[in-house]
Amino acid sequence: MLELRDISVSVTEEKEVPILKDINLALDKNKIYVMTGPNGGGKSSIAKTIMGIYQPVKGKILLDGIDITEKGITERARLGIGYAFQQPPRFKGLKVRELLALAGKEDLDEQCDLLFDVGLCAQDYIDREINASFSGGELKRIEIATLLARNLNVAVFDEPEAGIDLWSFQKLTETFEHLHEKYNTTLVIISHQERILRLADEVILVSEGRISEITSRENILAEIEKIDFDCRCRKECIKGEIASAECDR
Ligand SMILES: Nc1ncnc2c1ncn2[C@@H]1O[C@H](COP(=O)(O)OP(=O)(O)OP(=O)(O)O)[C@@H](O)[C@H]1O
Ligand SMILES: [Mg+2]
Repeated sequence: MLELRDISVSVTEEKEVPILKDINLALDKNKIYVMTGPNGGGKSSIAKTIMGIYQPVKGKILLDGIDITEKGITERARLGIGYAFQQPPRFKGLKVRELLALAGKEDLDEQCDLLFDVGLCAQDYIDREINASFSGGELKRIEIATLLARNLNVAVFDEPEAGIDLWSFQKLTETFEHLHEKYNTTLVIISHQERILRLADEVILVSEGRISEITSRENILAEIEKIDFDCRCRKECIKGEIASAECDR
């Protein structure tokens, strides 16, 4: 289990700016958590704090009861924590199969399965060198495959759907759904996609640097159906065509 206890994170530019405030989160093994919420709410920052990229100014992080707050990125990676970036870096000069081997899958069969799991044809990619010629969606899927290769304790995927075509997205959701059959992982998926929300055992809502709610996917999906623009955002309201008694602005 991964636990964040009273975590606050600040970044220092000209002055100290708080970006996460009093985050409390307990993530069980073998469950799928989907983290969602408005842009700029703090989702990627929570992921980076879990990975050790951001150090908290307050609070503790525990993995299976052991305090890992002071541990750096490499040590956390060794403990089986992985993070697939919202915008993946480019690993220049390596072939796809070399990257997967470095991630722990040296067997060709397994490497082909991993590429298939993220919707990439092994024949076309296994021997290809990763360089600037890769498209955004190709890179994103290769990074996801690299994380899947590592049999992680905690795997955090940051908007895996971003830039991914419909066919690969379908394959990817199936992969996440069946991940527990292959790997014994706590899965955290940061996403704005309803299809991904449907995979969640629990949905974590993040906004303004806080966890505003932890709820079931049924509740969230029901809320999405109810979503309507505020009256003040409608053109009829701006033009004064709605009687003031009906308008909530
Ligand atoms: N290193 C940093 N320096 C300055 N501000 C930062 C830094 N990291 C995050 N922030 C700020 O913290 C807030 C949360 O950012 P974060 O990337 O966590 O949001 P997010 O929920 O992942 O948003 P999105 O849905 O757009 O990806 C934003 O206002 C962002 O500008
Ligand atoms: Mg983000």
